[in-house]
Amino acid sequence: MSDADFPADFHWGAATAAHQVEGGNVNCDWWDFEHDPGSAAVESSGDAIDHYHRYAEDFVLLHSLGHNTHRLSVEWSRIEPAAGEFSVAALAHYRRVLTALLDVGLTPFATLHHFTLPRWFAARGGWLAPDAVEVFGRYCREVAAALGDLMPFVCTINEPQMVALHGYLEGYHPPAVANPALWKRVGGVLVDAHHEAVNAIRAVAPTASPGLCVQLPLLAPIRDDPACHALHELMQYEIVDRYLDGLTGDWLGVQYYRKQWVDPGSPTWFAAPPPEFALTQMGWAVHPDGLRQVLHHAAKRTGLPLFVTENGIATGDDRERIDYIEGHLRAVAQALAEGVDVRGYLHWSAFDNFEWSEGYRPTFGLVAVDRADDFARVPKPSAYALARVAATGRLAA
Ligand code: NOJ
Repeated sequence: MSDADFPADFHWGAATAAHQVEGGNVNCDWWDFEHDPGSAAVESSGDAIDHYHRYAEDFVLLHSLGHNTHRLSVEWSRIEPAAGEFSVAALAHYRRVLTALLDVGLTPFATLHHFTLPRWFAARGGWLAPDAVEVFGRYCREVAAALGDLMPFVCTINEPQMVALHGYLEGYHPPAVANPALWKRVGGVLVDAHHEAVNAIRAVAPTASPGLCVQLPLLAPIRDDPACHALHELMQYEIVDRYLDGLTGDWLGVQYYRKQWVDPGSPTWFAAPPPEFALTQMGWAVHPDGLRQVLHHAAKRTGLPLFVTENGIATGDDRERIDYIEGHLRAVAQALAEGVDVRGYLHWSAFDNFEWSEGYRPTFGLVAVDRADDFARVPKPSAYALARVAATGRLAA
């Protein structure tokens, strides 16, 4: 490598997910959850940022901000609105979306499942239905057959560990269950679903490279005592290692936000971060070197090429976002210098958007969106800070 911090062919960009940006995504479990007064969701996703209609101008904007890659998801509930019934119009929509990306010069990373389930799939038991894996495989095969030629990188499932953890242990995502046995069971189902999807994609779309995107927090025990170490070991396995060992696919997407401390004495099994850590709007502890550490761990465990497919901060102070980006890019550059095969950095997120149960309050975007006034997009200084590193391949001295 030259004296640059990042290779010339590095993938630079940002990520979104269908439900968080498209708007009007009314046929999925999340829409129902948002409209259930008893649920943890604070507001409706509503029109989101109307990306469903504005994708073309959004891609032009992101390209002008120095991106060469873009991660998005296609929406299962639009593509398969009823079991086994595939929407020609929805697939045509995503063909236009992916074509627009390629036309503008952005390499697509397309996620097939990013948290939302079709209502019919959720109603028959979601991931706990006996044929969930086959049904998901059928959906993946249809999408890969229809769109695989436009998807150089396909992520089968976004953050399976968080689907299991938030949905089946912590209960603040649908189906809002809090049951350790089901949490572990769903984890196993999602691993199987990923393998099924990889096989389905490979069978019908030889040019589409399948991978998995996992969130890898840096986990640590809050105290040096046996119960804390035992829980740390359990969480490290259930949240991280069971997803990395024996993984199929061509690449791994690493999504890193924070360090987390486990505490058997806490009702959530997680402790509040120690006071020396800066906290984000989400209450998350910022710890850039953790990204370097989890990249090493993921590389060692899987042997696969890595992409950072999400990393970002919810903050109203864009100066903090610039520091966060620089700190985490420094961690990526260090991992590269230490020999880890990292091929890209995709920031979460391109735009301020719908942050699931937290609604629109947390702002993760490089670009602000005025949801009260025709959804105007306004890039923040952090967007230009990232663009400078992307353009030069160098961090500031
Ligand atoms: C992980 C998820 O993939 C994404 O949907 C979410 O908005 C971000 N992390 C921030 O919480």
